[in-house]
Amino acid sequence: MSRLVVVSNRIADPRKSAGAGGLAVALGDALSANGGLWFGWSGTVVENGTPGEGEVHTHHSGNVTLTTVDLCKEDHDSYYLGYSNGVLWPVFHYRLDLADFDAGYIGGYRRVNKLLARKLMPLLKPDDLIWVHDYHLIPMAAELRAMGCKNRIGFFLHIPLPPPLILAAVPQHEWLIRSLFAYDLVGFQAQADVEHFSRYVGKEVGAETLDEHQFRAFGRKVQAQAFPIGIDVDEFAALTHAKEGRDMYERMKNEYSRRRILLGVERLDYSKGLPQRVKAFRELLKNYPENINSATLIQIASPSREALDTYADLRQELESLCGAINGDYGELDWMPVRYIHRNVARKRLPGLYRVADVALVTPLRDGMNLVAKEFIVAQDPADPGVLVLSRFAGAAEQLKEAILVNPYDVHGTAESIQLALQMPLIERQRRHQQLLERVRNQDVHWWRKTYLDALAACEPD
Ligand code: ADP
Ligand code: F6P
Repeated sequence: MSRLVVVSNRIADPRKSAGAGGLAVALGDALSANGGLWFGWSGTVVENGTPGEGEVHTHHSGNVTLTTVDLCKEDHDSYYLGYSNGVLWPVFHYRLDLADFDAGYIGGYRRVNKLLARKLMPLLKPDDLIWVHDYHLIPMAAELRAMGCKNRIGFFLHIPLPPPLILAAVPQHEWLIRSLFAYDLVGFQAQADVEHFSRYVGKEVGAETLDEHQFRAFGRKVQAQAFPIGIDVDEFAALTHAKEGRDMYERMKNEYSRRRILLGVERLDYSKGLPQRVKAFRELLKNYPENINSATLIQIASPSREALDTYADLRQELESLCGAINGDYGELDWMPVRYIHRNVARKRLPGLYRVADVALVTPLRDGMNLVAKEFIVAQDPADPGVLVLSRFAGAAEQLKEAILVNPYDVHGTAESIQLALQMPLIERQRRHQQLLERVRNQDVHWWRKTYLDALAACEPD
């Protein structure tokens, strides 16, 4: 069997509890299954280092070898903060207004991809399957190919691919898509992303469509397909019933015995629709006053990419919205919004999900959204909570029995939250059972296997 080599910007020790972020959680699960090499940035930024250079570190965690590379400050700022999170992240999430098209960033993005490819190349064996992840590393395969790598290389985009006209706002859009043709298999989260890819390559580069999933352009053939990422259902169910999950549930149940709990959990990111959600909650209190002194919004938003102004601005906006609602509606013994700007320990998270009457997963745009799937698994099937899910999350293609909302429509979202709060038990049970089946059928093991089987089956071009 070929060894699996996973390449991603951020890596995490699979035996330690991963931080917030769907990618690290899913890849830790995928690699632990058969072992392999996980290669990426160490997370260390060297203040006075040389651009294009970085020290390599290796350590072992069970059957997984973790090899990481440090980045100097100049590289980190242009590659990670600049091009990845100042250009690609906003544009791919349809936020052209938040993009910072500084011409200097692309140099750092290319330099770091080249650096990582150069450090990875000597570690590769001829029959390794290489699996590169996410928007930070789009040109990785092209760099490896330029150094003579003949292995099968797959790519998976964890975030959405926007429609051609939005993608075309990135000055290097054609180069980015040409870079994807150095891979054998390009995986997307959702069918919508595959359609955008197909339309782009058809219109902008005149690619030949060989069949539904195969495209030829730039002298290469690439297969592009949707592989919706899942979670480790058994592991998450076990966490739900383990001591820390149960303790969290009991504690919250006692604390909020007279309240209905609405829950939001994510990184503090503008793609997650947090201000719109808080406004919808305010609308709920205004239009359905029976929720006053009862419904409590617990919003956990962990710090993310704080060096970027767009994230600092969002934090201020959210804090001011929460403060205003608490000031207007709060009582001495009831605060409508509990906003917590921190991570919750992964072992406790299922207890929090289980105690919630309603989960609000309302991103303005999201590649998949694993929180929605975790929430479903953590529910008590006899008395499950209700999932209110944005139609703009990739997960909405699968989780059809959730209450689907348009998060831009604050009034409509408030109406849906009220519907969720009033949903009869029998209907909650029916929806939950169907949702659980969907999450179980396409879990993280299914995702890894389906993707890697497809990659292994790709004929070398
Ligand atoms: P993204 O990859 O954009 O962060 P996902 O919903 O796909 O969004 O994945 C987020 C992952 O990070 C989930 O596994 C979730 O449990 C975890 N996570 C998100 N926010 C928090 C938080 N505040 N505390 C603990 N874990 C979190
Ligand atoms: O899932 C999308 C993603 O951008 C991952 O690539 C990333 O690891 C995660 O969200 C968290 O973001 P960051 O690595 O920038 O903290």
